Amino acid sequence: MRSNANIAGPMTDPVPGPRTESMGEDVSRETPPPMDDTPIGRAAQLAVEALGRAGEGLPRPEQTRVMVVANQKGGVGKTTTTVNLAASLALHGARVLVIDLDPQGNASTALGIDHHAEVPSIYDVLIDSKPLSEVVQPVPDVEGLFCAPATIDLAGAEIELVSLVARESRLERAIQAYEQPLDYILIDCPPSLGLLTVNALVAGAEVLIPIQCEYYALEGLGQLLRNVDLVRGHLNPDLHVSTILLTMYDGRTRLASQVAEEVRTHFGNEVLRTSIPRSVRISEAPSYGQTVLTYDPGSSGALSYLEAAREIALRGVGVTYDAQPAHTGAHTEQSIVEGIQ
Ligand SMILES: Nc1ncnc2c1ncn2[C@@H]1O[C@H](COP(=O)(O)OP(=O)(O)OP(=O)(O)O)[C@@H](O)[C@H]1O
Ligand SMILES: [Mg+2]
Repeated sequence: MRSNANIAGPMTDPVPGPRTESMGEDVSRETPPPMDDTPIGRAAQLAVEALGRAGEGLPRPEQTRVMVVANQKGGVGKTTTTVNLAASLALHGARVLVIDLDPQGNASTALGIDHHAEVPSIYDVLIDSKPLSEVVQPVPDVEGLFCAPATIDLAGAEIELVSLVARESRLERAIQAYEQPLDYILIDCPPSLGLLTVNALVAGAEVLIPIQCEYYALEGLGQLLRNVDLVRGHLNPDLHVSTILLTMYDGRTRLASQVAEEVRTHFGNEVLRTSIPRSVRISEAPSYGQTVLTYDPGSSGALSYLEAAREIALRGVGVTYDAQPAHTGAHTEQSIVEGIQ
């Protein structure tokens, strides 16, 4: 059962009370104290700020940008990033489709989309060539956001695909035949490099790699990058890693900034300046079938994803990204580093 109790924003915060460091929210110190320092006043102020920014139109890409959210490492924030970025882009005025390509169906759950076994799903598209338009559902609460859900059937698809014709390009064909106008398609991949992920890499031009700011963050990335090279060489010449997003950034630890530095040294310009803080609100939202953007629009997590979406949209049209002033709650790394000094 979905809860819409919190749609109106943080005024109806289900866990009232101040958000302290111990709750894991707002771990960085870049946000100055608000004018009204009561919990409700603070939440209201942040919500107004967030919604104001969300309404801010952003340039739309000339062609649909298909972004493959991949990292074979589990639990690094692929699904969280897919659904929250997608919602942020939609709130900025774009039309966005999330394709859930993970048998776990976490993206479908987080978007409040029914995905029990009988629901028409991306499995039917891949295995039975059902048109994508027959499985796409509008996401409740977020205009312009759509989802092609995954059901548990998809768990068998890795094996079933093996014997099918054009097994690597079935998703690409389905997307090409989809006629609804879209600005972005975000594909949430499973934590593996099997045929499902290969289908995503063939279907998209851009790879978005979320990297969790922890030890071994870069472990296994070489394998993903080699796969990207292989697919580019044989199946999809346009494929490239366009975006790296640092997730679960904990500004209290030196480790986070060390990892961030290492990632920047490796990847340079592909790394977004905005990083996503570790936030209780982000992790709570999926259990309400919501993104953090509707669950708690004023939270640091919501603001960070809105900002990351802005950065992605501006980069896409070649506009230089200028970080928002720190008081907006956006977590550019510089502001986080300054915040903990
Ligand atoms: N910024 C964040 N702050 C706090 N918790 C987070 C954050 N991002 C993700 N999480 C939590 O971390 C866990 C893993 O995130 P997520 O499911 O997005 O990772 P994933 O890469 O999709 O995992 P999998 O590889 O299993 O598909 C989830 O419980 C999620 O709620
Ligand atoms: Mg996932």
